[in-house]
Amino acid sequence: MTDELYSTSETTSGAPPPGASGARAGRATREDSAKRRAPEPMTPRPFRVSKNEPETSDTFTLTLEPEDGRECSFSPGQFNMLYVFGKGESAISISGNPELTGGYVHTVRALGVVTRGLRALTPGDWVGVRGPFGRGWPIERAEGRDLVIVAGGVGMAPLRPVLLHVAAHRRRFRQVVLMFGVRTPDDLLFHDALGVLRDAGVDVQVTVDRTYEGWAGAVGVVTRLIPRAGFAPREVIAMICGPELMARFSALELRKRGVPRENVYVSLERNMKCAVGFCGHCQYGSSFVCKDGPVFTLDAIRPLLGRQEF
Ligand SMILES: Cc1cc2nc3c(=O)[nH]c(=O)nc-3n(C[C@H](O)[C@H](O)[C@H](O)COP(=O)(O)OP(=O)(O)OC[C@H]3O[C@@H](n4cnc5c(N)ncnc54)[C@H](O)[C@@H]3O)c2cc1C
Ligand code: FES
Repeated sequence: MTDELYSTSETTSGAPPPGASGARAGRATREDSAKRRAPEPMTPRPFRVSKNEPETSDTFTLTLEPEDGRECSFSPGQFNMLYVFGKGESAISISGNPELTGGYVHTVRALGVVTRGLRALTPGDWVGVRGPFGRGWPIERAEGRDLVIVAGGVGMAPLRPVLLHVAAHRRRFRQVVLMFGVRTPDDLLFHDALGVLRDAGVDVQVTVDRTYEGWAGAVGVVTRLIPRAGFAPREVIAMICGPELMARFSALELRKRGVPRENVYVSLERNMKCAVGFCGHCQYGSSFVCKDGPVFTLDAIRPLLGRQEF
């Protein structure tokens, strides 16, 4: 970890961080060699905010471009550590299209110090990015099979890259069902992407916890959609992301339909610091969520969820 980048004394989001390249920094030789070096997992790369667009009242999507111009590839389900200068660092999933490697897209719910700091950023501001980290979703395993995706709220963020991939390569998958639960109709994320998915032949089902007049869709928890969803249970690959209680009950409903445990994948969230398996903050039994996850098979996490019925 570089001391400069983690120092909160001088740096602000509007000023270039130490190590930023280009004429502003005026250190071409050092920068050229820095560009050639492999990225170190504890050293944030400087990125510029190019867009910060609201999704709902408390959720927004950030588009970030690397100052060093290096490619930003990732696997769907992986996350970055985003560092807001003067505030701190948080784990945030990558929500963009995996086939576009010019930068990173993140969708964030403003909860506390760091995520509110991210919400306050405007185009041109700086963010430190470490990553991508972790093991993502098993897209290859889902090819040629039915695919079921269960998402709750901002839990859609790490699943969005999967859905964009499915929409772009629809013929590689059989029946694809997305079940998406949000608190109210106003909390529905990714309107545009849902339309694209429907057009691509994905069965998109949305349910809300609370509603108001005019909502014609389902009302109730997302788990209630699972018993009637159209998929072949023995063959399906299921991906779940959302609050842990929702994930647990979704997995239980899938098991009741006969989906094998090893075909159910759950993305977990734990408090993270290093993100590379050093510090132990994200320990989950004998696993580290940052390096062994965040996506696990139900088989791997079942004992910790402590539910014999799984
Ligand atoms: C692998 C991984 C991927 C993640 N991906 C995303 C993502 O794509 N988008 C996103 O918005 N968030 C994501 N998160 C959660 C995000 O890391 C936390 O919300 C963030 O670190 C909170 O930091 P903060 O400083 O803003 O809030 P803090 O000041 O740390 O916390 C503010 C308040 O929010 C509560 N809180 C903190 N984290 C959570 C949480 N996860 N759920 C509910 N309450 C919480 C705290 O208890 C506290 O009351 C992810 C987490 C992990 C581990
Ligand atoms: S965050 Fe340090 S071990 Fe996972």
